[in-house]
Amino acid sequence: MSGVPDHLRRPVRGMRDWLPPQFYALRRMEEVLGAVAESFGYRRVETPVVEHFEVLAKKAGEEVVKEIYYFRDKAGRELGLRFDMTVPVARVLSYNLDLPRPVRWYYFTKVFRYDEPQHGRYREFYQFGVELIGSSSPRADAEVVQVLAASLEAAGASNYLVKINDRRAVDKLLESLGAAQYRDVVYKALDKKLKLPREEVVGIMTEGGLSREVAEKIYDAAGELSLEEAVDVLSKLDPKLGATYGKFVKYLEASVPLEKMRFDMSIVRGLDYYTGIVFEAFVGDYRLAVGGGGRYDDLLGLYSGVPTPALGFAVGVERLMEAVGLQAVEKPLDYYIYIFDDDAYKYAVAVARKLRAGGHSVVIELGEKSLKDAFEYALKIGARHLIIIGRRELEKGVVKIRDLEKREEVERPLSDFLA
Ligand code: HAM
Repeated sequence: MSGVPDHLRRPVRGMRDWLPPQFYALRRMEEVLGAVAESFGYRRVETPVVEHFEVLAKKAGEEVVKEIYYFRDKAGRELGLRFDMTVPVARVLSYNLDLPRPVRWYYFTKVFRYDEPQHGRYREFYQFGVELIGSSSPRADAEVVQVLAASLEAAGASNYLVKINDRRAVDKLLESLGAAQYRDVVYKALDKKLKLPREEVVGIMTEGGLSREVAEKIYDAAGELSLEEAVDVLSKLDPKLGATYGKFVKYLEASVPLEKMRFDMSIVRGLDYYTGIVFEAFVGDYRLAVGGGGRYDDLLGLYSGVPTPALGFAVGVERLMEAVGLQAVEKPLDYYIYIFDDDAYKYAVAVARKLRAGGHSVVIELGEKSLKDAFEYALKIGARHLIIIGRRELEKGVVKIRDLEKREEVERPLSDFLA
């Protein structure tokens, strides 16, 4: 028997199988992160994996549109797999206009991007995130960053750094340099600042039509600052923006350690729907961003026709798990029951029923193994106890319970389990 070729045994490129230990690790993340969102009053939402392609394509941006899994169904509908949850949430709210605002929702679910798979970059991956819809207050911005920080802390990533920018700051900078018409190419270049050397980033801008002098000025302006320093810089660029930012920093200061926050004008983000503050989160020396988000005040209006300010963030769950080293959670089996002949089966079932009712996991041997093989198998699958019901035990009216960790054996009356 040769079976299918190896590539058919593996998941589709860029996707992964979740065997039980990995899946339980994922579930643990889900519990921990979900509890943080819930504690801030966010409620969980889910939407279909399949979306109208038109909805997805509206404001994804050139780069992300290329990454949408696109297909037609049998009726000819143009569909796509969601590439994030922000867009589906915006769609859901466009026909639920009567929900009391602000709306606080969170999700932990699969999204899809036809990206070039590499380390930390998958085609199917999980995002945990929150969306806060219906407020333009800088307190909302501070709240969302605080939820992000609390999520990272709870996941065991207390060595995080959040890099914050405001797209309006970049726009003002460009205006002041007379380069407003080069916004797109500057965003594209700045987005690469963490990944490429200075020459190449400046090169993207000069190829896009900017003079070398202006391109270098932009590059140098996009360095890291403390949030307090950023308030001064933004106030000089635009007093109103500076004042709003000042409030945001004040609220943030009350809720998170500011030393874990940096202002960085190179954070512009790949998605097109952002309009205000944007941020990305990094953990320890894990190279890729584990999370990102920002304000998208124009997105909901595109679907509902009603302008609605909003912001949120999403964390890449696989990346976060890798950054904190949570890869596998073993789930031990509590009891493995071995019997010697079919007559004892009804006792095995009764014992198992009683133990299961008490919240334990119990497996009954299927009758194909010798005691020795069953014993080895029970050890391999991580069973804590082996219960033996043999002829001698039945005659005595007991079951033998062997603790496989402590290597101790006790006998318990069968009647304990039959009540
Ligand atoms: P995003 O930055 O595109 O933002 O994705 C959020 C996070 O998902 C990233 O920081 C990264 O950790 C993870 N991620 C992205 N692409 C991949 C991939 N190919 N493989 C594995 N992980 C990946 C958003 O999706 C926005 N919807 C966030 C947001 C919510 N903005 C406002 N609200």
